[in-house]
Formats: sequence, structure tokens, C-alpha cells
Amino acid sequence: MGKPTITLKQRTTPVELPDPLGFGAHFTDHLYEARYEEGKGWFNHTIKPLEPLSLHPASSFMHYGQAIFEGLKAYRKGDDILLFRPDQNFERMNNSAARLCMPALDVAETVEHLKALVEIEKDWIPTNKGEALYIRPYMIGTEAALGVRPSKSYIFQIILSPVGAYYASGFAPVKILVEDEYVRAVRGGLGESKAAANYGGSMLAALKAKEKGFTQVLWLDAVERKYVEEVGTMNIFIRFNDEVATPALSGTILPGVTRRSVLKVLDDWKMNPVERKIPIDEVVERHTKGEVLEVFGAGTAAVISAVGELAYKDNRMTIGDGGVGELSQKLFDELTGVQYGEKPDPYGWVVKV
Ligand code: COI
Repeated sequence: MGKPTITLKQRTTPVELPDPLGFGAHFTDHLYEARYEEGKGWFNHTIKPLEPLSLHPASSFMHYGQAIFEGLKAYRKGDDILLFRPDQNFERMNNSAARLCMPALDVAETVEHLKALVEIEKDWIPTNKGEALYIRPYMIGTEAALGVRPSKSYIFQIILSPVGAYYASGFAPVKILVEDEYVRAVRGGLGESKAAANYGGSMLAALKAKEKGFTQVLWLDAVERKYVEEVGTMNIFIRFNDEVATPALSGTILPGVTRRSVLKVLDDWKMNPVERKIPIDEVVERHTKGEVLEVFGAGTAAVISAVGELAYKDNRMTIGDGGVGELSQKLFDELTGVQYGEKPDPYGWVVKV
């Protein structure tokens, strides 16, 4: 396994973390980059000072959308730097790449190169609970060619950003509007890929929801507009009185690493986690009967985000007392406890840099 070539920036002052951190607004000094060419494979694995990209205006991703990304985090405990299930993110990235006819990464090598980058940037890792170093790997097709076909060259980069809570409300419960006009993904499409296009396509609905006072939208399936899918920046869980349900992966939902981890933890806690189709009408009906105890989202950026209010057509449902539910808080504490190295890691999810 090759090592990346490293060129370091000369800092004249120590790293000072911005306050407040916000989400994705500040970037560290260095990035990781690898280039790919058809017939040659991946080459030029480098860690170097962060700099703007110079690209040909015909670069294919700008025209035809061969752009995918990932999101994971690094945490700090004393001198230790911890990553949470990084292999899962690069495996998912390879799945996204396959869907968009882009090249696969060597997962083990990419994790090692990421570790080298994070080690160099360790002073940028915030230590307060809820804060972390967000890791954004991404890949784009860069061939200068306007024919609609897969690019023959690619750039893969990893940039790093010290972050706090994803939502402006911090870890306070979010208000979610169930989207009944626009759709996110159809079966056979890009829904389960972390394609940039999925996020561009979600912005109009999110903007309209924001104008109505909501934080985000909850997508319904695109065919029947009946079943709950995901929020777009996080997977959704509904704690009913007799089970904790999350939509089954059907090809249209992002298979979240946090989602998978939550399911495992809930299983161990004997909370009856269930992956199934969840009709929105069932949620409304069971809410009127008092059977919807909690709703929360799960994602790398969002961690565990309690949903305080869910609105669907004319129904405005306050979830529980509108605050952070007991299970949401317990899951947040458990996951962040493991991620920050404060709690035992029975599944071996945490990788030390
Ligand atoms: C993540 O949770 O890492 C995401 O990718 C969500 C969002 C910031 C795009």
C-alpha cells in the first residue's frame, strides 16, 4: 500500500478554532487528492495545502453530474484521534461510484491516507461534545469532453471542516414538513447513491419549507406519495408505542452509516427496531391515538436530531412534548459516547488514527 506524498503548509501561528463553528463554513490547511485516468488507475496520492482547483470548463461533472461525496467525522479524546466506521463510508462511496460509472477506490488504502491527513490536521479537531472534524471526501469526473458518456479522468479529494451542530437550532428539536409536491428519488434512480444531484434536487422543497418555518422536509416515496422515506440530510426513525420503525431500504433511500448503527444499538437494547414501509397516514392516525412517542433523524452531520414537530397537509403534529425524547437523548449519548471514546465500543466501530 503506497503512502501519499506530503507537502506541508508553513503555519506562522497556531490553529485557532473559529467560534461559533457552524457547519461546513471553515476548512483546515490541507487536503488529500488522488487522480485517476482510464488505463492508468489512481495515481498522484498527495496531501498538500488546500488550494483552489483548476479545471477545464468542459469537465464532465459540471455538465453531466458525475459527482459523488461522503461525510464522516473525526473526534478527539486527549491525544487520541478517533474515526467512526470510515470503511463503511468508502464502501458506500464505491457503490455510488458504480452507479454513476465512476472508478472504485481502494477502501483500505483510502482509510490509511485519510488517517495521515487527519493526523496532520489534528489541531483542527474540536473537543467539545457535539463538535467534531467533518470529513468530506468527494469525486468528480474531469475529462474535457461534451459527449454524454463516463469521464475518462477523475479527481478524488478529501477536505476537512471543524463543525458544530448541523442545524442552526443546535441540538434543539427540528420542525419537519412532510413534502407532498416534490419528490427526491425513484426506484432505479440515484436515491441510494450519495450523488451531488440528489442534494441539488432537494433545495427547492427545502427552501419553500423554510419559508413556512420548517427546518427541513421529510420525503415521501415518489410513486404513491404515501410512504415515508428520508429527510435528505438524515434518515428518519419513528418510535411507536410498540416498535422503533425506520423505512426499509428500497433503493430510493440513502443507506446511512448512523442509521445502521442506530438499528444495531436498538436491537441490543431490545427496543424492537423494525425496517419496513411506513405509510404517512399511519403516522398521522397513530399520532392522534398517542402512539407516536418520538421521531428522530440519524445522520453523520445531524447525529441524532429530535423532531419536535411534523406537519403533513393540514395536520401539525407535536411529537411528545415537542422536546428531545428520552430515546433520542439516550441514543445521542450512546453514539457520541462511543464516537468520542468515552464509552465502551462493543462493536469495534471506532478506528484510532
Ligand atoms: C452527512 O451527514 O454527512 C451528510 O452528507 C448530510 C449533509 C451535510 C449533506
